[in-house]
This record gives sequence, structure tokens and C-alpha cells, in this order.
Amino acid sequence: MAEHIPTRNPNEIAKLRRAGEASARILTEVASFVRAGVTTAQVDAYAAELFTAEKCGNAFHGYCGYPGHICISVNEVVVHGIGSDRVIKDGDIVSLDVGAIVDGWYGDNALTVPVGQVSEEVRRLLAVTEEALYRGIAEARQGNNLADVCGAVEDFVKPYGFGIVRDYVGHGVGRHLHEEPSVPNYRPQHHLPHLKRGMILAIEPMITLGTFKVKVLDDKWTAVTKDGLPAAHFEHTVAVGPHGGEILTERPRNALPEQLGIAL
Ligand code: MF3
Ligand code: CO
Repeated sequence: MAEHIPTRNPNEIAKLRRAGEASARILTEVASFVRAGVTTAQVDAYAAELFTAEKCGNAFHGYCGYPGHICISVNEVVVHGIGSDRVIKDGDIVSLDVGAIVDGWYGDNALTVPVGQVSEEVRRLLAVTEEALYRGIAEARQGNNLADVCGAVEDFVKPYGFGIVRDYVGHGVGRHLHEEPSVPNYRPQHHLPHLKRGMILAIEPMITLGTFKVKVLDDKWTAVTKDGLPAAHFEHTVAVGPHGGEILTERPRNALPEQLGIAL
């Protein structure tokens, strides 16, 4: 229902950008901390220190009882990995998801980092997932339908034969972590709303090397691929603009094909 999707004015978008930029700074710093030999609990503790240094709120800690400060999802963990004694190894990929609150406004962003020597097919998975995010962002312009965003992600990923996760989707974001609308990474069967300038979307493709099917572990959070193959996750918070999505969580790209030594 498009009527329930808030639009934010330039003043509000400036506030959202402050939250987005805090989220992006923390995400970028945590990404540079990730290396072989550290545990995901150490990564979470480092992230907690960064939130303290930023003096911003944490959008995830305590959300629906979530125990971590960020999500740290290694290899077969698709999303919502909780810091633990799992040791990060050479050849792993680690998805990091960070949400910050500044003055009651929310920013949400994620990326996947390769650790050491990662196989070529997994490097391709990372590059395709990051590029799919940017294809979706390009379609987040006023006058388009939300389905154009969802379809751009799906259309870009499909030829590679990777799995497109369906059980988790992107979302509106603003005064809460999750607002309307849902932003699937595929064209849904049902009607989707038209996009108006100032709608705020968290676009977040979750793409797998094998099956798109996921299951949630007994901790009620950790979502893993059913076949145990790795998954990648990239996310930005964007404002629907006249020429495409305006990224509120700007950061350097970390999975361009040339950075990963592959061609798409
Ligand atoms: N980016 C994810 C989402 O939008 C992260 C949520 S983690 C949670 O759902 F802990 F807050 F649930
Ligand atoms: Co999100």
C-alpha cells in the first residue's frame, strides 16, 4: 500500500544521511578489522567500541531480542550471524551488517568481505551481489515502480545461476529499522507501489552459490543455506530521487570485479 510508505523531505533526508554515514563508517572500520584468526565475537566487540566512539545508537542490539551489536555471517550463514567463538579462516567470506541510530533516524548497511585467498567462484558471487545492489539502486527513481528495483536485482543475478534468497528481503527504513515497503530481490507476483521522491529503501540482495533455500538455527537468528554453500550480502540505505537512488550509506565499493581479479 503506497499510502503507508512515508516520504522524507530534504531536511529529514539530511538527518537520515547522518545516521547512514555513521553506519557506513562503522561498517567500513569493522570490515578492515576482519582477518583470519579472529573470532566473530571479537569482531562484534570491536563493533561495539565503534558505536561507543561514534556516540550513536545501535539499531540491531536488542531489536526483537537480537543479542549482538552487528550481524557477522560467515560463509554458509546468509544473515543474522551472532558473534561467537567461530574463528575466521583464510578463504572465508564474512558478511557484516550494521545499523545505526542518530537523533531517532536509522541507517542500515551491509557488505561481504573476502578473507585471504578466496576461490574464483566465490569472488564472482561477491562481485555479482555487490553489482546487483547497484543495479537495484539505479532503478530507485521517482516514477518507477518498486518492481523495477526488485526486477533489476533479479535480472542481473539470474544469468549467473546463483540462488536468490526469498525468505529475507530489503525494507523501508527511517524512524524505525523496518518500515514499509518490503523490497524483495525478485519481482513478486503481487502489485508493488510506485516510487515517490523521498521514499527511503534499504536494498539488500542476499545471493547464494547454490540453493536459495535457507533455514534458521536453534538460536532463532542464524540463517544458513540449506546446502551449506556460501552466501553474500550487500546493502545500502537509499532515498528515492529524480535520477535513481541517492545512497545515504556511501562507502567505497569492495567487490568490483577488477578488485577481485575476475571478469563478470
Ligand atoms: N539488515 C538486516 C535487516 O534489515 C539486519 C537486521 S539484524 C537485527 O533485517 F538484528 F536487527 F534483526
Ligand atoms: Co536491512
